[in-house]
Amino acid sequence: MKIQALRGTKDILPEEAGLWSAIEAKAKALCRVFGYQEIRTPLLEEAGLFTRSIGKSSDIVRKEMYTFSDRKKRMLSLRPEGTACVVRAYIEHALDKTSQLTKLYYLGPMFRAERPQAGRLRQFHHIGVEAIGSADPYLDAEVIALAVKIIEQLGVKGYKLKLNTLGCEKDRKKYKTILREKLKQKLKLLCADCRARYKTNVLRVFDCKNPDCKNITQDLPGTDAHLCPECLKHHAQVKLALESLRINYVSAPHLVRGLDYYTRTCFEISHHNLGAQDAIGAGGRYDNLIGELGGPQTPAVGFALGIERVIAAMTPGEIKPGQTTGPCLYCAVMGPEAKKQGFHLLAGLRAEGISCEMDYQNKSLKAQMRQANKLAASYAAIIGEEELKKNTIILRDMQNKTQIETTTNQLVKELKQCSGLTTAEN
Ligand code: HAM
Repeated sequence: MKIQALRGTKDILPEEAGLWSAIEAKAKALCRVFGYQEIRTPLLEEAGLFTRSIGKSSDIVRKEMYTFSDRKKRMLSLRPEGTACVVRAYIEHALDKTSQLTKLYYLGPMFRAERPQAGRLRQFHHIGVEAIGSADPYLDAEVIALAVKIIEQLGVKGYKLKLNTLGCEKDRKKYKTILREKLKQKLKLLCADCRARYKTNVLRVFDCKNPDCKNITQDLPGTDAHLCPECLKHHAQVKLALESLRINYVSAPHLVRGLDYYTRTCFEISHHNLGAQDAIGAGGRYDNLIGELGGPQTPAVGFALGIERVIAAMTPGEIKPGQTTGPCLYCAVMGPEAKKQGFHLLAGLRAEGISCEMDYQNKSLKAQMRQANKLAASYAAIIGEEELKKNTIILRDMQNKTQIETTTNQLVKELKQCSGLTTAEN
């Protein structure tokens, strides 16, 4: 049987990898402009990290984690998201002692055992940031501004930023009680999933796609209707800060998010081109998570963008894939002695940083020149019997179709200029 990539996972082949590199480079550059530093955490963590942070009743923990026991019978999970991992690293390395505000970004694969469909993968990639150490509403606005800046610079047009607040722990509790109260009489009309949600985490009824449930939940009060004065003030300040940056948002009082750790601000960026899975990215505040995971009580806020969905929402051609120029030189040889010479020539050129290639399939000279053309080499070096005798090389300009006779030393000088150009373009 043929072995194929697992359903919901994707190979990123060379023709796509250029675009990915360009996206990653742009995102990293913007994160640095906003003062965020890179962090890389393991893909594998103790399963308990996610159960405790994302929440037992969340879909991710209930049915989407790749969890298994290792030889020592420890329960491990492939990370389904980055926030919990960054927080674990923050606590483990006592980063609060290094700086009062720690601003981190990360890029990498996440794993969720969801039913694969358009825009929903089992291995997908996040560009995420976490700003840990401040409850300042301006920081919420900064984080949102960075998410928006990244997608705009990547050529995503027509996205929608939905903003809400979940309030503090007390507000959430109060809100949940109100929801249960309101839904009590209508329980029979809800789907089985929502009836379960009513018991485990009633906020999640807003995520249901069932039209009957939607009909019922759309009339429920929003989270913002039951905020304490501090949370109300925080939310108003976040909105003002966003307005001062001219960032358009729509208030989404039923936006609750599927992860349990959020407090106060939460947001989602969606795009109409993406169908059912329309969220490009999302984030929010999680002021209690660090404390809950055993660290110092530290407020924090962050977001993650799904790279595959960003690509799907991008206007084609807006981002130039990383330059995929051909090699500076293709060395075409005739016979074993010339091949030996050519092989050494390549080593010398590469030591000078000049990109070069040669044939390893014993092709005819004609076929080698065709290959040089196919690879879009700028120059071809030809070494035949005559050149071996004279200790020379024919250097052919592949574009102008002109050629000169030269020596190895001269060749390096000629080509340094060409490789200089290639490096500058990259
Ligand atoms: P999330 O909403 O679960 O948030 O994921 C963020 C983004 O990842 C989504 O908006 C979507 O673009 C993408 N995504 C999620 N699941 C899939 C999937 N199965 N296939 C393709 N793309 C997917 C978080 O993960 C939080 N950690 C965000 C955060 C950071 N909050 C605070 N800091």
